[in-house]
Amino acid sequence: MEKAASSAADEVFLDLEDACAPLEKPAARGKVVEALRTHDWHGKTRVVRINQVTSQFAFDDLREVVTGAGDALDCIMVPKVRNAGDVAFVDRALIQLEQALGLEVGRIGIEAQIEDAEGLMRADEIAFSSDRLETLTYGPADFSASMQLPSLSVRNDYNYPGDIFHYVLFKLAVAARAAGIQVVDGPYLAIHDVEGYRASASRAAALGYDGKWVLHPVQIEPANETFTPTQADFDKAARMLEAYRRATEIDRKGAVMLGDMVTVEPQTIVVFDEVEALLVKVGERQIIAVEMIENAELQRFPPGWAHGLARRHQNDRVLIRYSKVGVQKCQCLNSPE
Ligand code: GLV
Ligand code: MG
Repeated sequence: MEKAASSAADEVFLDLEDACAPLEKPAARGKVVEALRTHDWHGKTRVVRINQVTSQFAFDDLREVVTGAGDALDCIMVPKVRNAGDVAFVDRALIQLEQALGLEVGRIGIEAQIEDAEGLMRADEIAFSSDRLETLTYGPADFSASMQLPSLSVRNDYNYPGDIFHYVLFKLAVAARAAGIQVVDGPYLAIHDVEGYRASASRAAALGYDGKWVLHPVQIEPANETFTPTQADFDKAARMLEAYRRATEIDRKGAVMLGDMVTVEPQTIVVFDEVEALLVKVGERQIIAVEMIENAELQRFPPGWAHGLARRHQNDRVLIRYSKVGVQKCQCLNSPE
């Protein structure tokens, strides 16, 4: 756990589910609490994966972990979510615990793992099931089992033309984006196949995913490389803002070309005003920029992203990606210092 705490991963989740043998589960709760309390998790999202809500363990997982370390925890990950009720159960249990323990109600977020056919079918309702929901996460190993896929590796090594998970990944991305939350790809099991990991992460990134699990330290670097925007992207975003301001305020045009590709439509101006303010404020390292986003109710900014930024990226710059129809995505860039 210490290694995880000092790694370059953005988030660490401590697992009470499948990485924990059934007989070990009750004792593991105390170890998780102790780890949350004792290691230095600075800069990381701290998450605990509880057991499935229909198991004998989930309620005690929640109670013991939140009682012992609720103030040292950012999210609860809920595996094998099948419907909105599964998330609602965790949401309500958290309300009770937070109230009883004097914790801020609603601060602890939820990440929902979609890992079987029913969960995928109901991904839309799940994505809208709770204000606490920050992320939909794909679980390819359990999903493969649920679907009776012959491949046991979750690799692209089956005799099928194309990516067998394309539909799943895209469906989850659509549900998450519609709800304004993050979407994260799950594990790549072949830990020694780093190029295979990179290819899998790139496919998720191409569909707009926010990140992907890592199971081993060797997967961290390719994950960060795949999902972190470059300085060039950041600079380009700033140039686009400037070009747009010039076009609208000085040249009085409603649209603008930057280089060979970018046009900005007039209806995006409100979004751009907000984003510009954000860029400036974050440049000045004022976290108030995040509040401004939330207050502005810009649906394009996932609430999970904004909460996450507030919690863990206070000194970071922000990259804004644009498309013809406006802001697609904001992401944090690690500060150089
Ligand atoms: C992760 O939990 C998976 O089942 O892939
Ligand atoms: Mg699983």
